[in-house]
Amino acid sequence: MPKPKVYVTRELPERGLKIIKERFDAKVWPEYAPPPKKTIIEKAKDVDALATLLSDKIDAEVFDAAPKLRMIAQLAVGFDNVDVQEATKRGIYVSNTPEVLTDTTADFAWALLMALARRVVEADKYVRTGRWKVGWHPAMLQGRDVYGATIGIVGAGRIGYAVAKRATGFSMKILFYDVIPRPEMEKDFGAKKVDLDTLLKQSDFVSIHVPLMKETHHLINAEKLRLMKKTAYLINNSRGPVVDEKALYDALNEGRIAGAGLDVFEQEPTPLDNPLLKLDNVVVAPHISSASYETRSKMAEMVADNLIAFFGGKKPPNLVNPDVLKVRPLTKQF
Ligand code: GLV
Repeated sequence: MPKPKVYVTRELPERGLKIIKERFDAKVWPEYAPPPKKTIIEKAKDVDALATLLSDKIDAEVFDAAPKLRMIAQLAVGFDNVDVQEATKRGIYVSNTPEVLTDTTADFAWALLMALARRVVEADKYVRTGRWKVGWHPAMLQGRDVYGATIGIVGAGRIGYAVAKRATGFSMKILFYDVIPRPEMEKDFGAKKVDLDTLLKQSDFVSIHVPLMKETHHLINAEKLRLMKKTAYLINNSRGPVVDEKALYDALNEGRIAGAGLDVFEQEPTPLDNPLLKLDNVVVAPHISSASYETRSKMAEMVADNLIAFFGGKKPPNLVNPDVLKVRPLTKQF
Protein backbone atom coordinates (compact mmCIF):
# COMPACT_ATOMS: atom_id res chain seq x y z
CA MET A 1 0.00 0.00 0.00
CA PRO A 2 1.50 3.40 -0.87
CA LYS A 3 2.04 5.75 2.06
CA PRO A 4 -0.77 8.29 2.56
CA LYS A 5 0.12 11.77 1.34
CA VAL A 6 0.25 14.59 3.87
CA TYR A 7 0.87 18.28 3.27
CA VAL A 8 2.29 20.05 6.31
CA THR A 9 1.73 23.80 6.17
CA ARG A 10 4.86 24.77 8.17
CA GLU A 11 8.07 23.28 9.53
CA LEU A 12 6.80 21.70 12.76
CA PRO A 13 9.07 21.13 15.78
CA GLU A 14 11.52 18.41 14.96
CA ARG A 15 10.38 15.14 16.51
CA GLY A 16 6.78 15.42 15.34
CA LEU A 17 7.85 16.32 11.84
CA LYS A 18 10.39 13.49 11.74
CA ILE A 19 7.68 10.97 12.63
CA ILE A 20 5.34 12.38 9.99
CA LYS A 21 8.09 12.21 7.37
CA GLU A 22 8.90 8.61 8.28
CA ARG A 23 5.34 7.33 8.23
CA PHE A 24 3.84 9.37 5.39
CA ASP A 25 4.62 10.67 1.97
CA ALA A 26 4.96 14.16 3.42
CA LYS A 27 5.68 17.53 1.86
CA VAL A 28 6.26 20.64 3.96
CA TRP A 29 5.74 24.35 3.20
CA PRO A 30 9.31 25.55 3.76
CA GLU A 31 8.82 29.23 4.57
CA TYR A 32 8.41 30.96 7.92
CA ALA A 33 5.37 32.91 6.70
CA PRO A 34 2.17 30.95 6.12
CA PRO A 35 1.37 29.59 2.67
CA PRO A 36 -1.16 31.69 0.76
CA LYS A 37 -4.63 30.16 0.52
CA LYS A 38 -4.14 29.42 -3.15
CA THR A 39 -1.05 27.37 -2.32
CA ILE A 40 -2.97 25.37 0.28
CA ILE A 41 -5.67 24.73 -2.30
CA GLU A 42 -3.08 23.69 -4.88
CA LYS A 43 -1.26 21.39 -2.44
CA ALA A 44 -4.50 19.90 -1.09
CA LYS A 45 -5.46 18.61 -4.54
CA ASP A 46 -3.92 15.18 -4.24
CA VAL A 47 -3.27 14.70 -0.53
CA ASP A 48 -5.00 12.45 1.98
CA ALA A 49 -4.37 14.78 4.93
CA LEU A 50 -3.32 18.29 5.82
CA ALA A 51 -1.35 19.16 8.95
CA THR A 52 -2.39 22.74 9.62
CA LEU A 53 -1.77 25.71 11.89
CA LEU A 54 -4.30 28.17 13.29
CA SER A 55 -3.33 30.75 10.68
CA ASP A 56 -4.48 28.52 7.78
CA LYS A 57 -8.07 29.06 6.69
CA ILE A 58 -9.45 25.61 5.92
CA ASP A 59 -12.94 25.79 4.47
CA ALA A 60 -15.24 24.56 1.69
CA GLU A 61 -12.99 26.15 -0.94
CA VAL A 62 -10.11 23.92 0.19
CA PHE A 63 -12.34 20.85 0.52
CA ASP A 64 -13.80 21.42 -2.98
CA ALA A 65 -10.30 21.24 -4.44
CA ALA A 66 -9.31 18.14 -2.46
CA PRO A 67 -11.30 15.04 -3.43
CA LYS A 68 -8.99 12.66 -1.53
CA LEU A 69 -8.73 14.71 1.67
CA ARG A 70 -9.66 12.61 4.72
CA MET A 71 -8.09 14.40 7.62
CA ILE A 72 -7.09 17.82 9.01
CA ALA A 73 -4.60 17.45 11.86
CA GLN A 74 -4.26 20.86 13.47
CA LEU A 75 -1.38 21.98 15.67
CA ALA A 76 -3.40 24.05 18.18
CA VAL A 77 -6.12 23.52 20.71
CA GLY A 78 -8.34 26.13 18.99
CA PHE A 79 -9.70 25.22 15.58
CA ASP A 80 -11.89 28.17 14.63
CA ASN A 81 -9.86 28.46 11.41
CA VAL A 82 -11.32 25.13 10.24
CA ASP A 83 -14.90 24.86 9.02
CA VAL A 84 -15.57 21.74 11.10
CA GLN A 85 -19.23 21.47 10.15
CA GLU A 86 -18.35 21.41 6.48
CA ALA A 87 -15.54 18.92 7.13
CA THR A 88 -17.90 16.60 9.02
CA LYS A 89 -20.46 16.72 6.21
CA ARG A 90 -17.76 15.62 3.80
CA GLY A 91 -16.42 12.84 6.04
CA ILE A 92 -13.18 14.67 6.84
CA TYR A 93 -11.74 13.98 10.29
CA VAL A 94 -10.42 16.98 12.27
CA SER A 95 -8.06 16.74 15.26
CA ASN A 96 -6.43 19.30 17.58
CA THR A 97 -3.76 19.34 20.32
CA PRO A 98 -5.44 19.96 23.69
CA GLU A 99 -4.08 19.42 27.22
CA VAL A 100 -0.34 19.47 26.51
CA LEU A 101 -0.53 23.26 26.21
CA THR A 102 -2.87 23.94 29.14
CA ASP A 103 -0.28 24.85 31.78
CA THR A 104 2.01 26.64 29.35
CA THR A 105 -0.90 28.82 28.20
CA ALA A 106 -2.04 29.48 31.77
CA ASP A 107 1.53 30.48 32.65
CA PHE A 108 1.48 33.05 29.88
CA ALA A 109 -1.87 34.50 30.99
CA TRP A 110 -0.16 34.87 34.32
CA ALA A 111 2.87 36.53 32.74
CA LEU A 112 0.58 39.11 31.13
CA LEU A 113 -1.31 39.61 34.39
CA MET A 114 1.85 40.17 36.42
CA ALA A 115 3.40 42.39 33.77
CA LEU A 116 0.30 44.60 33.80
CA ALA A 117 -0.18 44.74 37.54
CA ARG A 118 3.46 45.54 38.29
CA ARG A 119 4.15 47.51 35.11
CA VAL A 120 7.08 45.30 34.12
CA VAL A 121 7.23 46.40 30.47
CA GLU A 122 6.89 50.09 31.36
CA ALA A 123 9.59 49.70 34.00
CA ASP A 124 11.94 48.06 31.52
CA LYS A 125 11.44 50.94 29.04
CA TYR A 126 11.83 53.46 31.87
CA VAL A 127 15.30 52.19 32.65
CA ARG A 128 16.46 51.68 29.05
CA THR A 129 15.31 55.10 27.81
CA GLY A 130 17.11 57.01 30.56
CA ARG A 131 14.00 58.16 32.41
CA TRP A 132 15.35 56.68 35.67
CA LYS A 133 16.92 59.86 36.95
CA VAL A 134 16.46 59.60 40.72
CA GLY A 135 17.56 56.56 42.63
CA TRP A 136 14.26 55.86 44.33
CA HIS A 137 10.93 57.60 44.74
CA PRO A 138 7.88 56.29 46.60
CA ALA A 139 5.59 57.16 43.68
CA MET A 140 7.78 55.63 40.97
CA LEU A 141 5.88 53.16 38.76
CA GLN A 142 3.30 52.13 41.31
CA GLY A 143 1.15 49.22 40.24
CA ARG A 144 -1.51 47.05 41.82
CA ASP A 145 -1.25 44.08 44.16
CA VAL A 146 -2.04 40.71 42.67
CA TYR A 147 -2.18 38.77 45.94
CA GLY A 148 -5.54 39.06 47.63
CA ALA A 149 -7.20 40.65 44.55
CA THR A 150 -10.24 39.25 42.75
CA ILE A 151 -9.73 37.41 39.48
CA GLY A 152 -12.62 36.76 37.12
CA ILE A 153 -12.11 33.82 34.78
CA VAL A 154 -14.24 33.90 31.66
CA GLY A 155 -14.39 30.31 30.45
CA ALA A 156 -13.39 27.75 33.05
CA GLY A 157 -12.36 24.84 30.83
CA ARG A 158 -8.90 23.31 31.04
CA ILE A 159 -6.97 26.57 30.67
CA GLY A 160 -9.33 28.62 32.85
CA TYR A 161 -9.00 25.92 35.52
CA ALA A 162 -5.18 26.10 35.32
CA VAL A 163 -5.34 29.90 35.68
CA ALA A 164 -7.54 29.47 38.77
CA LYS A 165 -5.03 27.02 40.22
CA ARG A 166 -2.30 29.64 39.92
CA ALA A 167 -4.59 32.25 41.49
CA THR A 168 -4.88 30.20 44.68
CA GLY A 169 -1.12 30.61 45.18
CA PHE A 170 -1.72 34.36 45.27
CA SER A 171 -4.60 34.06 47.77
CA MET A 172 -6.97 35.56 45.23
CA LYS A 173 -10.72 35.50 45.35
CA ILE A 174 -11.80 33.59 42.25
CA LEU A 175 -14.97 34.24 40.26
CA PHE A 176 -15.79 32.45 37.06
CA TYR A 177 -18.31 32.54 34.29
CA ASP A 178 -19.08 29.57 32.04
CA VAL A 179 -22.02 28.13 30.16
CA ILE A 180 -21.10 24.73 31.67
CA PRO A 181 -21.49 24.20 35.48
CA ARG A 182 -17.79 23.32 36.22
CA PRO A 183 -18.32 22.17 39.85
CA GLU A 184 -14.59 21.35 40.10
CA MET A 185 -13.82 25.08 40.20
CA GLU A 186 -15.82 25.44 43.39
CA LYS A 187 -14.64 22.17 44.89
CA ASP A 188 -10.93 22.56 44.14
CA PHE A 189 -10.47 26.31 44.56
CA GLY A 190 -13.55 27.67 46.34
CA ALA A 191 -14.27 29.67 43.17
CA LYS A 192 -17.69 31.26 42.79
CA LYS A 193 -19.76 30.88 39.63
CA VAL A 194 -21.38 34.17 38.65
CA ASP A 195 -22.95 35.69 35.57
CA LEU A 196 -20.69 37.57 33.21
CA ASP A 197 -21.91 41.02 34.29
CA THR A 198 -21.26 40.29 37.97
CA LEU A 199 -17.81 38.96 37.13
CA LEU A 200 -16.95 42.10 35.17
CA LYS A 201 -18.26 44.39 37.92
CA GLN A 202 -16.37 42.69 40.75
CA SER A 203 -13.04 41.55 39.30
CA ASP A 204 -9.68 43.30 39.52
CA PHE A 205 -8.31 41.04 36.78
CA VAL A 206 -10.50 39.56 34.06
CA SER A 207 -8.85 36.69 32.18
CA ILE A 208 -10.48 35.26 29.07
CA HIS A 209 -10.30 31.55 28.22
CA VAL A 210 -13.21 30.77 25.90
CA PRO A 211 -12.97 29.30 22.41
CA LEU A 212 -13.94 31.54 19.50
CA MET A 213 -17.41 30.63 18.26
CA LYS A 214 -20.43 32.54 16.99
CA GLU A 215 -21.56 32.90 20.62
CA THR A 216 -18.25 34.30 21.89
CA HIS A 217 -17.48 36.72 19.05
CA HIS A 218 -17.19 40.18 20.72
CA LEU A 219 -18.34 38.65 24.00
CA ILE A 220 -16.42 41.53 25.58
CA ASN A 221 -17.89 44.54 23.82
CA ALA A 222 -18.38 48.24 24.68
CA GLU A 223 -21.33 47.52 26.95
CA LYS A 224 -19.46 44.81 28.87
CA LEU A 225 -16.31 46.91 29.22
CA ARG A 226 -18.42 49.63 30.85
CA LEU A 227 -19.15 47.24 33.71
CA MET A 228 -15.49 46.81 34.64
CA LYS A 229 -13.82 48.70 37.48
CA LYS A 230 -11.66 51.68 36.59
CA THR A 231 -8.78 49.91 38.32
CA ALA A 232 -9.30 46.55 36.58
CA TYR A 233 -7.20 44.82 33.93
CA LEU A 234 -8.31 42.66 31.01
CA ILE A 235 -6.17 39.71 29.87
CA ASN A 236 -6.88 37.84 26.65
CA ASN A 237 -4.86 34.92 25.38
CA SER A 238 -7.78 33.01 23.85
CA ARG A 239 -8.71 34.43 20.44
CA GLY A 240 -8.65 38.10 19.39
CA PRO A 241 -12.22 38.41 18.09
CA VAL A 242 -13.63 37.51 21.54
CA VAL A 243 -12.87 41.14 22.44
CA ASP A 244 -14.09 44.13 20.41
CA GLU A 245 -10.72 45.82 20.00
CA LYS A 246 -12.12 49.20 19.04
CA ALA A 247 -14.29 49.21 22.18
CA LEU A 248 -11.28 48.10 24.24
CA TYR A 249 -9.23 50.97 22.89
CA ASP A 250 -11.98 53.45 23.80
CA ALA A 251 -12.24 52.03 27.33
CA LEU A 252 -8.47 52.28 27.84
CA ASN A 253 -8.11 55.66 26.18
CA GLU A 254 -10.90 57.14 28.29
CA GLY A 255 -9.38 55.64 31.47
CA ARG A 256 -12.43 53.46 32.11
CA ILE A 257 -10.23 50.41 32.78
CA ALA A 258 -6.62 50.27 33.97
CA GLY A 259 -4.92 48.18 31.32
CA ALA A 260 -4.97 45.17 29.02
CA GLY A 261 -2.70 42.23 28.30
CA LEU A 262 -3.18 40.81 24.83
CA ASP A 263 -1.55 37.82 23.21
CA VAL A 264 -4.21 37.66 20.48
CA PHE A 265 -5.74 40.18 18.11
CA GLU A 266 -8.70 40.55 15.79
CA GLN A 267 -6.24 40.56 12.92
CA GLU A 268 -2.92 38.69 13.19
CA PRO A 269 -0.30 39.98 12.76
CA THR A 270 -1.90 43.09 14.20
CA PRO A 271 -1.05 46.14 12.06
CA LEU A 272 1.55 48.51 13.50
CA ASP A 273 -0.99 51.32 13.39
CA ASN A 274 -3.33 49.48 15.78
CA PRO A 275 -3.99 52.32 18.28
CA LEU A 276 -3.76 49.85 21.18
CA LEU A 277 -0.01 49.69 20.53
CA LYS A 278 0.31 53.37 21.45
CA LEU A 279 -0.91 52.84 25.00
CA ASP A 280 1.61 52.27 27.79
CA ASN A 281 -0.90 50.33 29.86
CA VAL A 282 -1.27 47.65 27.20
CA VAL A 283 1.13 44.70 27.19
CA VAL A 284 1.19 42.78 23.93
CA ALA A 285 2.63 39.57 22.50
CA PRO A 286 2.38 37.88 19.08
CA HIS A 287 0.13 34.91 19.96
CA ILE A 288 2.82 32.93 21.82
CA SER A 289 0.97 31.59 24.85
CA SER A 290 1.81 27.95 24.13
CA ALA A 291 5.29 28.74 22.81
CA SER A 292 7.60 26.81 25.11
CA TYR A 293 10.08 24.40 23.54
CA GLU A 294 8.60 21.53 25.52
CA THR A 295 4.98 22.21 24.67
CA ARG A 296 5.42 23.00 21.00
CA SER A 297 7.38 19.79 20.62
CA LYS A 298 4.60 17.80 22.31
CA MET A 299 2.00 19.49 20.11
CA ALA A 300 3.84 18.41 16.96
CA GLU A 301 4.06 14.84 18.24
CA MET A 302 0.32 14.91 18.87
CA VAL A 303 -0.28 15.94 15.27
CA ALA A 304 1.74 12.88 14.22
CA ASP A 305 -0.12 10.63 16.69
CA ASN A 306 -3.51 11.73 15.37
CA LEU A 307 -2.50 11.15 11.76
CA ILE A 308 -1.04 7.73 12.56
CA ALA A 309 -4.13 6.65 14.49
CA PHE A 310 -6.48 7.72 11.71
CA PHE A 311 -4.59 6.12 8.84
CA GLY A 312 -4.07 3.01 10.99
CA GLY A 313 -7.86 2.66 11.16
CA LYS A 314 -8.22 3.96 14.74
CA LYS A 315 -10.16 6.90 16.11
CA PRO A 316 -7.72 9.84 16.37
CA PRO A 317 -7.15 10.52 20.09
CA ASN A 318 -7.99 14.20 19.69
CA LEU A 319 -10.85 14.02 17.23
CA VAL A 320 -12.95 17.20 17.45
CA ASN A 321 -15.81 16.06 15.18
CA PRO A 322 -16.87 12.59 16.39
CA ASP A 323 -20.03 12.82 14.24
CA VAL A 324 -17.76 12.20 11.28
CA LEU A 325 -17.57 8.55 12.30
CA LYS A 326 -21.17 8.18 11.11
CA VAL A 327 -20.37 9.83 7.78
CA ARG A 328 -17.21 7.89 6.96
CA PRO A 329 -16.29 4.86 9.05
CA LEU A 330 -12.65 4.32 9.92
CA THR A 331 -10.59 2.16 7.57
CA LYS A 332 -7.03 1.00 7.90
CA GLN A 333 -4.89 2.65 5.25
CA PHE A 334 -1.50 1.44 6.37
C1 GLV B 1 -3.24 28.51 20.22
O1 GLV B 1 -3.77 29.58 20.18
C2 GLV B 1 -3.96 27.30 20.22
O2 GLV B 1 -5.17 27.30 20.00
O3 GLV B 1 -3.34 26.25 20.45
